[in-house]
Amino acid sequence: MNRDVIVACDFKDRAATMAFLDKFHEEKPFVKIGMELFYGEGPDIVREIKARGHKIFLDLKLHDIPNTVNKAMKNLGRLGVDMTNVHAAGTIDMMRAALEGLREGSAGQEAMLIAVTQLTSTSQERMQRELLINATMEETVAHYARNTKEAGLHGVVCSPLEAAIVKGACGRDFVTVTPGIRYPDGQLGDQSRVMTPAKARETGTEFIVVGRPITQAEDVVAAYRRVCGDFLG
Ligand code: C5P
Repeated sequence: MNRDVIVACDFKDRAATMAFLDKFHEEKPFVKIGMELFYGEGPDIVREIKARGHKIFLDLKLHDIPNTVNKAMKNLGRLGVDMTNVHAAGTIDMMRAALEGLREGSAGQEAMLIAVTQLTSTSQERMQRELLINATMEETVAHYARNTKEAGLHGVVCSPLEAAIVKGACGRDFVTVTPGIRYPDGQLGDQSRVMTPAKARETGTEFIVVGRPITQAEDVVAAYRRVCGDFLG
């Protein structure tokens, strides 16, 4: 499995996103497009960035009945996304239906399908009290990751601090996509459990998702190169 740095393009609109991407001349970073940009600009934003030669992780976290997710995934597959995701909480049946839809829509291009286990914004206390899940966060993440593997998906999104648990539960080849990347000399923002790109590399994670340390840097290309140098070697 190839490793890569995915740049989280959390910009408010198309213009801000393109202004950022225009700064890259030699590299074509793998970019993550989230709900805000996708719902604001529509599928054309994906087509446009793809046409510029970038790989795309479309982070929409689908969670609905299997039939609906299957049909929605078919459409995302047709858009030519390279990676997209669902909530593992939607059940193994839903994840299987999602994968089938994505495969059909992308017609053999082998887009990667990744599941979200528990959102990092959910604390163990809230998960237990509000969702009535009586296991620990670690047990829940490992269990959802095993379900994801059983459904045939490629891997999960998780904190770099959980990558070892996921690899332990599902094997080294099961892909992890890990946000929460920071340098000691950088701003934490709203992230609390963070790791440097070099440390993340040691966990065996295949993809790191890096937003503000690159997008808010004075020299975004230099910041991207620094992360790539540390993570990819
Ligand atoms: O700017 P920053 O590096 O914190 O961006 C991280 C990206 O990863 C954001 O797009 C954020 O929504 C996403 N993410 C995250 N934690 C998760 C799942 C996704 O930070 N558990």
